[in-house]
Amino acid sequence: MTARPPSDLLTRMRDTGERTLLVETTAAADPNAVYEGLRKRWGSVAPVDLEPGVPAWLVLGHNEAVGVLRDDRGFVKDPSIWRGHDAGLLGPQSALHLVLPRTPKPTLADADGVKHTRMRPPVDDALSQVDETRASAITRRLCGMLIDRFEDRGRADLVAEYAAVVPFLVLSELDGLEPGQAQRLQEITRAIFEAGAAARERTVELLEIVTGHIAHSRERGTRDIAGVLAVHDNFESDLERAQTLTAITLAANESLLAWIAQTLVLILSDPRFSNRVSGGRLHIDDALDEVLWRSTTNPNLMPRFAVRDVVVGDKLIERGEAVVVAVHAANHDPLIQSDDPWDTVGNRAYLSFGAGPHRCPAPRLGRVIARIAVAELLQRLQVKLVGDPKQVTWATSPWMRFPARLPVTFPPPQAQPPQGAWPPDMTAFTQ
Ligand code: HEM
Repeated sequence: MTARPPSDLLTRMRDTGERTLLVETTAAADPNAVYEGLRKRWGSVAPVDLEPGVPAWLVLGHNEAVGVLRDDRGFVKDPSIWRGHDAGLLGPQSALHLVLPRTPKPTLADADGVKHTRMRPPVDDALSQVDETRASAITRRLCGMLIDRFEDRGRADLVAEYAAVVPFLVLSELDGLEPGQAQRLQEITRAIFEAGAAARERTVELLEIVTGHIAHSRERGTRDIAGVLAVHDNFESDLERAQTLTAITLAANESLLAWIAQTLVLILSDPRFSNRVSGGRLHIDDALDEVLWRSTTNPNLMPRFAVRDVVVGDKLIERGEAVVVAVHAANHDPLIQSDDPWDTVGNRAYLSFGAGPHRCPAPRLGRVIARIAVAELLQRLQVKLVGDPKQVTWATSPWMRFPARLPVTFPPPQAQPPQGAWPPDMTAFTQ
């Protein structure tokens, strides 16, 4: 990857001693302090633990990160080559079994090489035919209905009742799912994340529902996301189509939750930021970009695995070792940053949508949904964050950064809102 320093100057994982836990980067009040501490100590690539005793390399440098993401021959998503399996690093209770299974995962985001090249075009086709005007109208309507639900209460948790719900509802409608199916799928998805050993049966149930929906979309000849996947020749089976539709929905869900919630946190907790938005000097789009620069939604990407020994920076990454690209740190690399905060306005050169073959296929659609979700809420309600903004609790995911809760208050309106049957009350599934 870089001009190779003499091998006695290279650091190997076994030379690294005590390592920072990856989740310390995402759950910290100030992730920058943690990433910059790692950069100062280790340079562009740092050793971390995914869980205590489960090592991985964290790529902090922008050039190095882009190099790893683009080099899909040198670094693959297939976790079966991870050397930690043979070393027995994962205990039975480890939460990493879903991330580092012994067998390759079937989904697009985890496919490599020829399989990924075959499965990606249908996703690009399905997402590029989504009409943005229709997506905007759907998002506006669903956001309005969600706000109706809590508007009269004068208080809400904007994560559980809004940011975590909007993406799933919007994607379900763009997928052509009926409201009842969407609700059932969200219940099952939540159960899968909580189920541990029972996750397999739940996954089977989920795929049965989505496979049925794919067949139904083909019969009806729909032109929604499911309809495009249903007739695409690149797939070998309806199971692959169902796995891909599920992967699209879940990928959108997590990233959008984080983008909407993070933007709301910044606007509600940082007077400099909120004054700039409300003062009209920055459009909501600029606010969304500033979030992706300052405190990105997917700070650490799911691991890749080195296919052979490779030098990155001054580290020797050995075959089968796990490599995590730290998008947040790459975005803050002093080599690409200037001291002028206005440089980020209108500048979308961040790595927040990834790079290389697995880069996000939906940055435009994601932006439409996030922009409208933030704008609708701010237009409808005069929200104020409850408690000290510095005390916001961050979710304990090593991969995503979003507030665990966002309690707010606002003056309730005079009139009572209508009580509709849709969208369903999904608060229980997002807490
Ligand atoms: C409608 C919304 C979205 C959809 C449907 C979507 C879908 C996807 C899919 C299917 C992938 C896997 C692509 C592949 O493996 O070829 C992906 C990757 C990715 N998405 Fe999105 N996404 C959405 C929104 C977002 C947002 C809002 C962000 C962040 C701001 C984001 C960040 C990423 C990143 C960083 C990757 C690359 C992951 C990697 O290389 O490991 N996505 N997205």
